[in-house]
Amino acid sequence: MIKSALVTAALATGAWAARPFLNEPDTGIQLALPDLTVGELPPLDAMVGLPDFDYAARNYLPIRNYTYYRNGAGGEWSYRNNMEIFHQFRFRPRSMIDISNVNQTLKTTILGHEFSAPFFISPAARAGYGHPDAELNLVKAAGAQDILYMPALYATKTIEEIAAAKKEGQVVFQQLYLDSTADDEITKALFDRTEAAGADAIVFTIDSAANGNRQRAARFDVGSAFVSYEAYSWEYYDKVRNMTDLPIILKGIGSVEDAKLAVEHKVPAIILSNHGGRQVDGSQSSLETALEIHAEAPEVFEQIEVYADGGVRYGADVLKLLALGVKAVGLGRPFMYANVFGQEGVEKAIELLKTEIAYDAGNIGVPDVSKIGPEAVNWRTGFCGFGGGKPQGPR
Ligand SMILES: Cc1cc2nc3c(=O)[nH]c(=O)nc-3n(C[C@H](O)[C@H](O)[C@H](O)COP(=O)(O)O)c2cc1C
Ligand SMILES: *[C@@H]1O[C@H](CO)[C@@H](O)[C@H](O)[C@H]1NC(C)=O
Ligand SMILES: *[C@@H]1O[C@H](CO)[C@@H](O)[C@H](O)[C@H]1NC(C)=O
Ligand SMILES: *[C@@H]1O[C@H](CO)[C@@H](O)[C@H](O)[C@H]1NC(C)=O
Repeated sequence: MIKSALVTAALATGAWAARPFLNEPDTGIQLALPDLTVGELPPLDAMVGLPDFDYAARNYLPIRNYTYYRNGAGGEWSYRNNMEIFHQFRFRPRSMIDISNVNQTLKTTILGHEFSAPFFISPAARAGYGHPDAELNLVKAAGAQDILYMPALYATKTIEEIAAAKKEGQVVFQQLYLDSTADDEITKALFDRTEAAGADAIVFTIDSAANGNRQRAARFDVGSAFVSYEAYSWEYYDKVRNMTDLPIILKGIGSVEDAKLAVEHKVPAIILSNHGGRQVDGSQSSLETALEIHAEAPEVFEQIEVYADGGVRYGADVLKLLALGVKAVGLGRPFMYANVFGQEGVEKAIELLKTEIAYDAGNIGVPDVSKIGPEAVNWRTGFCGFGGGKPQGPR
């Protein structure tokens, strides 16, 4: 009786609502690794997609280490939504199109710097929780694979140690948290240090003005690194941008209003992000923010470079963000998990994602990834799933 009532309820609210959340959808990794023991690192060969690295890291790392990476804020609704939202919107494949060169169209420029793919390694603190060489693996893998790396200020290795591991000419954007209550000399010194280390841009994270409520992390004492309530403002941005010659990108834009203000304040680029769902539970995903901008101020995508991160686990996810006008897409956790295998693991994750992007673009009839447009996706599928709400965004 209970079972059939549940089935009826599930049918009534739509099949999507009834699906359990899957941190990694079951694609057979447990069947492929029947003898894996707890604490053991599976062979790198067994990793065939980015979610596999989450499985491997969870099995291999001490619970405290894994929890630091895996954690989201509150009930982790935003963490889950970041991943699930991509599957609300489905492609509108086109066929009979010559896509034979699609794998040569992944190259992109980010603030004028050339990279081999339209995705980057988002800044994530404490890579030492996954591997003793920490961020050195990430910077080397990014260099070898010719993608952008954004080292975090709260990295295990110092800014200088990470810079020393760059290959000749490698571009990195340094993430910083700024203390708005500190003396200007302190902020200036941090900028000078960043410039001296050879960073090509500063990524100022603005979505963490207060601490995150991190329940999972609190259980294992790996909670938030911050303690203050910040006094950020656009005047503050206007002031600090004058303290350095480096472009200052804003990371953590979550609404069309702030995207428009960033344009007004001549911010060179913004990263749509809810911090991987780690700061405020219930914040919309970057795909939802991109849809909001597309519906209400699509010119923003032309006026400044817009990047986005959060929940990206597949090539198809990357394509959905690019379809709205996002120029490059960041990933945090997948690369931190891949780092348990060292540089080789991070490189494998990068290669897998490049291949997925090319295959998926080819199969939906997009011959040039850099030219994908909103018509590649049926944006109505998702909003119909939200209880018949008014469809928004491009149809
Ligand atoms: C373990 C961890 C640490 C992070 N540390 C920072 C940080 O120091 N600065 C920052 O701007 N973002 C930080 N982030 C957020 C990431 O830059 C990025 O927005 C987020 O991880 C994207 O979501 P994803 O993990 O689902 O890809 C961190 C994320 C994780 C998972
Ligand atoms: C693209 O795929 C072809 C095989 O169709 C391969 O020869 C070529 O090396 C690939 N190029 C890139 C940039 O991956
Ligand atoms: C777990 O994190 C600690 C730092 O807190 C680090 O010393 C240790 O090496 C990490 N364990 C693994 C397996 O990477
Ligand atoms: C920043 O510098 C520019 C050009 O030097 C100047 O016009 C502007 O007033 C300065 N802004 C602030 C807030 O100091």
